[in-house]
Amino acid sequence: MKLAFRKKKAYTAGQVDFQRLPRHIAVILDGNGRWAQRRGLPRTAGHKAGAETFRTIATYCREIGLEHLTVYAFSTENWKRPRDEVDTIMLLLKRYLLEALNTMERDNVRLRFLGDMSVLNDELRELVDQCNAISARLTGCQCNICINYGGRAEIVHAAKMFAEDCIAGSVKPTELTENLFENYIYSSGIPSPELLIRPGGEQRLSNFLLWQCAYAEFYFTDVLWPDFTKNELHRAIAAYQQRDRRFGGVKK
Ligand code: FPP
Repeated sequence: MKLAFRKKKAYTAGQVDFQRLPRHIAVILDGNGRWAQRRGLPRTAGHKAGAETFRTIATYCREIGLEHLTVYAFSTENWKRPRDEVDTIMLLLKRYLLEALNTMERDNVRLRFLGDMSVLNDELRELVDQCNAISARLTGCQCNICINYGGRAEIVHAAKMFAEDCIAGSVKPTELTENLFENYIYSSGIPSPELLIRPGGEQRLSNFLLWQCAYAEFYFTDVLWPDFTKNELHRAIAAYQQRDRRFGGVKK
């Protein structure tokens, strides 16, 4: 089923080689506010449109056989936004999780949440727990949703966890390696993203996956997230597939 699909789509999606997809794509969902403002709408309308785009792109990523899609839905800094905007984003997340609970088993889609969930309201935390429990028995495409996430906070949290294990005596500071440290970050067990996409015209990381993006290829586009289409995704993947990835070595 997957192979038949790939074969067909290889022609319609231009330059994308679907046999050589990255394993993991990360996306900063940027531009929702501007999308709404340009239409004379409240910023919250942009987030609603952005949540729809996320559904479309996440579904498509599953269809093409991507292993991991990670999205930056809410940062540790986003709490500074007006109350109604924060409430709307939380409501959109809640709606998505409620939907996911009904569809993830059918679609074999795993969800994982990266960030500090302890500050979320009880209802959202309960939904997160339920999605985690279902995901544990699934094997398919994994969608990682970053909520109350910050790259620096993640590294500090990991350092604290490691220090606690040192105090407890289960590990020694001298035993720390990059591989071991990865066990302590929120995304432990998830391969690092090969491709990071940022729509919305800004060209920065904004505290997203600082550890994980050490060797990611970056793709920036002026397209605002709510206008991001499957074809935009094709462009990003095609650009990635033309990059010369040397990981600090030299070209063979
Ligand atoms: C950044 O755009 C976007 C956010 C801070 C929120 C993204 C959240 C969603 C799309 C809602 C739900 C998500 C899921 C995964 C269901 P911005 O508002 O900073 O845009 P701007 O730079 O144009 O102001």
